[in-house]
Amino acid sequence: MEKKKFYITTPIYYPSDKLHIGHTYCTVATDAMARYKRLTGCDVCFLTGTDEHGQKIETKAQESGITPKEFVDRIVEGPRGVKDLWKLMNISNDRFIRTTDDYHVSAVQKIFRKMYDNGDIYKGAYRGKYCTPCESFWTESQLKDGCCPDCGRSVVDAEEEAYFFRLSKYADRVRDLLENTDFLQPRSRVNEMVKNFIDSGLEDLCVSRTSFTWGIPVDFDPGHVVYVWVDALFNYTSALGFLNDQYHDYEKYWPADVHFVGKEIVRFHSIIWPAMLMSMEMPLPKHVFGHGWLLLDGGKMSKSKGNVVDPYILAEQFGVDALRFFLMRTFPFGSDGNFSNELLIQTINTDLANDLGNLVSRTTAMVGKYFGGSLPEGCGTWTAPETCDQELLSMARALRSAYEAQMEAYAPHNALSEVFKVIQRANKYIDETAPWALARDMEANGPRLAHVLYNLLEATRICGILLSPFMPASCEALFRQIGAGANCQSWESAAEWGVLPETAATTKGENLFPRIDAEKALAALEEAEQAARKAALPAVELEPQLSEQVDFDTFCKSDFRAVKVKACEAVKKSEKLLRFTLDDGTGTDRQILSGIHKFYEPEQLVGKTLVAIVNLPPRKMMGQESCGMLLSAVHTEQGEEKLNLIMVDDAIPAGAKLC
Ligand code: ME8
Ligand code: MG
Repeated sequence: MEKKKFYITTPIYYPSDKLHIGHTYCTVATDAMARYKRLTGCDVCFLTGTDEHGQKIETKAQESGITPKEFVDRIVEGPRGVKDLWKLMNISNDRFIRTTDDYHVSAVQKIFRKMYDNGDIYKGAYRGKYCTPCESFWTESQLKDGCCPDCGRSVVDAEEEAYFFRLSKYADRVRDLLENTDFLQPRSRVNEMVKNFIDSGLEDLCVSRTSFTWGIPVDFDPGHVVYVWVDALFNYTSALGFLNDQYHDYEKYWPADVHFVGKEIVRFHSIIWPAMLMSMEMPLPKHVFGHGWLLLDGGKMSKSKGNVVDPYILAEQFGVDALRFFLMRTFPFGSDGNFSNELLIQTINTDLANDLGNLVSRTTAMVGKYFGGSLPEGCGTWTAPETCDQELLSMARALRSAYEAQMEAYAPHNALSEVFKVIQRANKYIDETAPWALARDMEANGPRLAHVLYNLLEATRICGILLSPFMPASCEALFRQIGAGANCQSWESAAEWGVLPETAATTKGENLFPRIDAEKALAALEEAEQAARKAALPAVELEPQLSEQVDFDTFCKSDFRAVKVKACEAVKKSEKLLRFTLDDGTGTDRQILSGIHKFYEPEQLVGKTLVAIVNLPPRKMMGQESCGMLLSAVHTEQGEEKLNLIMVDDAIPAGAKLC
């Protein structure tokens, strides 16, 4: 039988900065869904990528003094960049598209021309409001209190000759699509879209720009670049080979089964995207799912606001699977949720360490202790099941279909809560059957004990299968510990009881999810975040050069001499000052005080040849006289002040003039 196709996408990310936990949320959700679909036997194509054009990136690159392509290359391909993050997070994407890839660029040019040729794109003049951070044009009526309705920041007036897409022409068809089909989910987003955008009348959309150059050129009208959203949305078809030769499975995978997107870009995906596809006479994606935001202290986490949580730090601290699990378990996929480190730790401790981790470690430990790691033959059947046996069995048997219904409804959080009901039931089953009590009389109770443990292994196996899309690596370890081979990990076997061989060899491995000491973990996080903030500061910062000139005669009035340090000591009661006794070649010792104790210990300096300006007027410091000043080089490194005394060759005699 031919496998069912499933094409799923994440939004392609703006590599205008490092990705944060909000981006990770959407990609992990997509990954879990893709893995689930593969598990059920689908032929899955999972696409992610980066959306690399637009004014914001052009500006940021300029600020960094590099080309836009160099700028995005760093963030996409560079260390701790986008690709690294997805690798770390164990993201199983089949494709990764960059909108700067040649095949995509030429495909978009062909698409733009086709819509021009069919009359849906025409030339006009654009007047309106533009939100630069969001790369969005808004009409006056769409603004909220005069600001961008998405991000709340101020917008600017913009006017330019531009191409327009006849979005208005498709208003009725798009309304019908939203109102009368299940295209857009969750349903609440439909009302938002219809009320905010369609009811007020869909205006034609400006789809080219002339005010900057970092975009895909309109090939028949140089000077215009394609609006970044037109460019970005067609990534979903370029990555399958539509109007390009890079890939050849557009026929196979298009239309997409679902685009997962954040709620603020639902408008682009549920109004503009279908209208353009209609214009291109292409099939529409089956679903767009608009998920909610991760909030931090009640506000949207966003890189331009600077309140972001670094997924690298969390994954390093708590483990990739624990982080993936937390994101999917805690926040209902269609709604916003408040992120906090405390909540993360609590979820790990409750669900993973206490419930799942304990179930696995207690069960395998008892199989080890009472049966040497392998249960006896016959343990799978029992002639007089008790109520608790029956309850556990029937819950575990029914789990797959409950889980499947939730996953098919794009409710991964609910699918996980179904799994955890069974895990909790299994832990209760341990308390009810009290295996340790049975073990006191192995002769009488051995068979019953073996059966109880077998039931626990089976329940664990079924839960492991259904958790594997969320925590792939941990579930592999779980299967190893309970002795479940490949045929005990299949989707089919998740609906069956009694699949694990009775004598399967279990091992008590390392604890899958160690309990986290919240206080220690929070302190370690704080430290890691501080280190990361510091590392993000410029490596070396220099004082700007003075633009005012000094005439040569004035300069020559400063008398610089080589001086030898005869003695050096810290000035009492001063944290900063060192007192130098210097040989300046005159035969009389010179005393200079210098506030550099932070950088040098006195004994490091004795015998060194330094440079001093010797004709400054004497100055009193802490009651002592300082005659001149020692020269040093200063700069800032990762936010920290650095100072190096100028030390010259010891062959230079004391008193030699520097000029
Ligand atoms: O929008 N919580 O890219 P992007 C949840 N290039 N999701 C969040 C989030 C948060 N705090 N912050 C961001 C773009 N996201 C376009 C997409 S698709 C053809 C082009 C989500 O990097 C956000 O909702 O700004 C979006 O779905 C995704 O991260 C990428 O955001
Ligand atoms: Mg965004």
